[in-house]
Amino acid sequence: MVDQAFESEIGIVVSDVKLQIESCNSLEELDSLRLKYFGKSGAITSLLKSMSCMDDVSKARFGSNINQVKAALQSSLKAKNIALQEKIESEKLMADSVDIGLPGRHNSFLGSIHPVMRTQIELESIFKKFGFSVESGDYNCEVETNYYNFSALNIGDYHPARAMHDTFYLKNGDLLRTHTSPVQIRILQEKKPPVRIVTPGKVYRCDSDQTHTPMFHQIEGLVIDKDCNFSKLKWLLHTVLSEFFGSNVKLRFRSSYFPFTEPSAEVDIAWPVDNSKDHKWLEVLGCGMVHPNVLKNCDIDSSIYRGYAFGGGLDRLAMLKYNITDLRSFFSGNIGFLKQFS
Ligand code: PHE
Repeated sequence: MVDQAFESEIGIVVSDVKLQIESCNSLEELDSLRLKYFGKSGAITSLLKSMSCMDDVSKARFGSNINQVKAALQSSLKAKNIALQEKIESEKLMADSVDIGLPGRHNSFLGSIHPVMRTQIELESIFKKFGFSVESGDYNCEVETNYYNFSALNIGDYHPARAMHDTFYLKNGDLLRTHTSPVQIRILQEKKPPVRIVTPGKVYRCDSDQTHTPMFHQIEGLVIDKDCNFSKLKWLLHTVLSEFFGSNVKLRFRSSYFPFTEPSAEVDIAWPVDNSKDHKWLEVLGCGMVHPNVLKNCDIDSSIYRGYAFGGGLDRLAMLKYNITDLRSFFSGNIGFLKQFS
């Protein structure tokens, strides 16, 4: 009887303690509850101690009861501990979470396309409309051999362009290309005519003043076909430059000399003089009919095929279009200057 009463009392105590555990709101509260029952002088600990003065039968019975109580409460404590830890974690995550509805900060330092690149892109798209493809890939090497930069282009061994004061040479005798014409030779050696290409890219010459920088950009063009002639070349340059400058430009073809073209011409554009009806002539391109020796160097039969070629500085065209007076400002990295083009 005594034992039965004892057992039911223990049952009540256990469910009461479990309720207390359940209502804990923090790990601190839970820990003080744990100490209250399982600490050195805690209730369960004292019960276990009191067994020492019991007889063996009571000890066995009481001991098994108290161990069940102990196991039940410890598992409740453990479960509550895990639940509280998870609650703390999720509260922390909520506090750290990013408000994705918050409007972004405006970035006033967005980059823009460099005016020279913009000029290149515009010209490429105009030339594409006339069936040209843009060669700026594998053949486009800025370090060139003498052969591709000079010899294959019919530039004689003693031509002044080969001199050290005009060209940057590397120790091994190679050089930084002085024009993008070598790309045309590389293409002609690999592809059969008809050919219709433009070759934009960086080129290098020993020059530095208001209108020259040691590195600048060129766009050159080449057409090889059976029916090429000088009037087609003139029509093409006039149409492309008119579209680029946005008006019907006036061009002047001045007789000139390039080793790789015959006949050759320099192309000037009529440019308005401020506050007057006058214009001045500004040189923008070189051009001509491809020299038969160049065709021969590329194994092209000049009795069947003819070609025309042209080339000029992208930087110079950009200067004219955007009214820039000092070429060096393109490469100064001055954000204030570049921002004007964004
Ligand atoms: N390669 C010449 C230069 O760099 C430009 C040019 C190209 C002239 C094609 C005539 C024909 O100045």
